[in-house]
Amino acid sequence: MKSACVIGWPVEHSRSPAIHRYWLKRYRIDGAYEKEKVAPEDLARFLGALGARGYAGANVTLPHKEAALRLAAFADEAASAIGAANTLWLDGEGKLHASNTDSYGFMTNLNEAAPHWNGGRRPVLVLGAGGAARAILHGLIAQGAASILLANRTRDRAEALAKTFGPTVRVIDWADRARALAGCGLLVNATSLGMTGKGDLDIDLKALPSDAVVADIVYSPLETPLLAAARARGNRVVDGLGMLLHQAVPGFERWFGVRPEVTPELKAHVAAALGGG
Ligand code: ATR
Repeated sequence: MKSACVIGWPVEHSRSPAIHRYWLKRYRIDGAYEKEKVAPEDLARFLGALGARGYAGANVTLPHKEAALRLAAFADEAASAIGAANTLWLDGEGKLHASNTDSYGFMTNLNEAAPHWNGGRRPVLVLGAGGAARAILHGLIAQGAASILLANRTRDRAEALAKTFGPTVRVIDWADRARALAGCGLLVNATSLGMTGKGDLDIDLKALPSDAVVADIVYSPLETPLLAAARARGNRVVDGLGMLLHQAVPGFERWFGVRPEVTPELKAHVAAALGGG
């Protein structure tokens, strides 16, 4: 039997088991997917014994994403560029490989839900400067975004992030986010605002062109107030659950040998597990 796990601290909230267990059943694979609560000081030891514990690999969630990258013997281009790993696997010699599939997940979902997002090569406005924003900037630049405006409550974090991506990314003040929507082809919320229990993302969409795309990384609720407002004024919307599902694909394929599909049934299954209906 093959198995994999998600490693976090805490780990109870992780949605990864719902996704991978669905696919294991769907593809009739004799496998398991577990939750492993591992404290930061135990991570190196845990990963050193990953194979001995019977795991083919793992997902890594907070706060271990940077440490997991450092502990891996090999890292792919995305993990190195993003500076964090979310997917690990052991090769035939027991060496640990690291990848970051958040960028892949975001871009695959965006390309599927709004294939024309870069049609006019208009500016993109990204809100946020955490790990998710970093993965999204990496993906947008790799796929030809011509110009990205970056706004974050803490401007210093946005400046530091922009520096690592070069001249395509220009920082603007958080206070200017609504004005900056004029002429944009895509708005991405990469902050935690809009999530159940967090604050609201306060942004007036008036200046956003009606044919622009609005994407949110928040998936609980599935339709955030931002997406509801965008939909009401006729913008194409891309929800965060699609990103979560797509980022899981490469790991499952590595561990279990089948490239799984992201289907409406999977989406409904995970949405129900989230309590989103
Ligand atoms: P992740 O790695 O998942 O992206 P993070 O590093 O905690 O998570 O980043 C969360 C993002 O949401 C940040 O951009 C954060 O802004 P700061 O860098 O200023 O903290 C943003 N965020 C969280 N709460 C916010 C709030 N009340 N107002 C504005 N931005 C907020």
